[in-house]
Amino acid sequence: MQLTYLSIAVAFGSTTVNSASLPGWAPAGPNDVRAPCPMLNALANHGYLPHDGKGITVNKTVDALKSALNFDPVLSSSLFEFAATTNPIPNATFFDLDHLSRHNILEHDASLSRQDAYFGRADTFNEAVFNQTKSYWTGDIITVQMASNARVSRLMTSNLTNPEYSLSDLGSEFSIGETAAYISVLGDKKTGTVPKSYVEFLFEKERLPWELGFKRAAEPFTEQDLADMMGQIVNAQHFPQEPGKVGW
Ligand code: HEM
Repeated sequence: MQLTYLSIAVAFGSTTVNSASLPGWAPAGPNDVRAPCPMLNALANHGYLPHDGKGITVNKTVDALKSALNFDPVLSSSLFEFAATTNPIPNATFFDLDHLSRHNILEHDASLSRQDAYFGRADTFNEAVFNQTKSYWTGDIITVQMASNARVSRLMTSNLTNPEYSLSDLGSEFSIGETAAYISVLGDKKTGTVPKSYVEFLFEKERLPWELGFKRAAEPFTEQDLADMMGQIVNAQHFPQEPGKVGW
């Protein structure tokens, strides 16, 4: 399991960015493609990744995640390897952002802000789904417990309402990794907390929340960092039995 955690890690890291040097932002145009991932979409909107969302190589992935989020290159390369498997061309050396939307490769049911593929498009933001997720973020600062509760709630809802609900082991690991990612990349990987406003801003605008105070991390985000946070998310699913312990 540990190896799987590591292989799925979504890295981040950073150094202070001078606001004068921050790149601009433009939404996708009619010929641009986007992903079910709010962060990759934001990076394309800012121009860290190709704005058209196409032809993303390992070097482009590593450079974008390093420049924007101070990701360790080993983690970025690992993520690229997963992404390239979604390209319909066998052994492709690049991916387009819309390749990531192919159902049940990396894209999975029970997303935090996208409906299940059974109900329609699973790649674009869905307000009703995101409202459910947000209802579990009960403070201005999202904690590991709140984030874990939101994820479990989405899993249960999909399981109960989608007659074709499924989640592979890889999909499950990605789901855990995505929750770990928004805490660690936008927030503080040591305390396991993140301002709710940053997370909502990313999901709703597909834009990095610099204007709210977000800064690229000073320290690189590594596979181990991702694995550690994924472990915390899973541990938080084990709700305490107090008061009144279950005796069996
Ligand atoms: C090359 C790097 C990356 C790849 C290949 C990737 C891929 C994906 C894919 C396929 C999904 C859709 C999963 C689903 O069905 O819900 C997704 C969702 C997500 N990704 Fe990424 N991602 C990458 C980087 C990042 C980074 C750096 C972050 C940092 C915050 C991030 C945060 C998220 C979040 C929070 C979701 C969940 C969206 C939702 O559940 O609605 N990703 N990513």
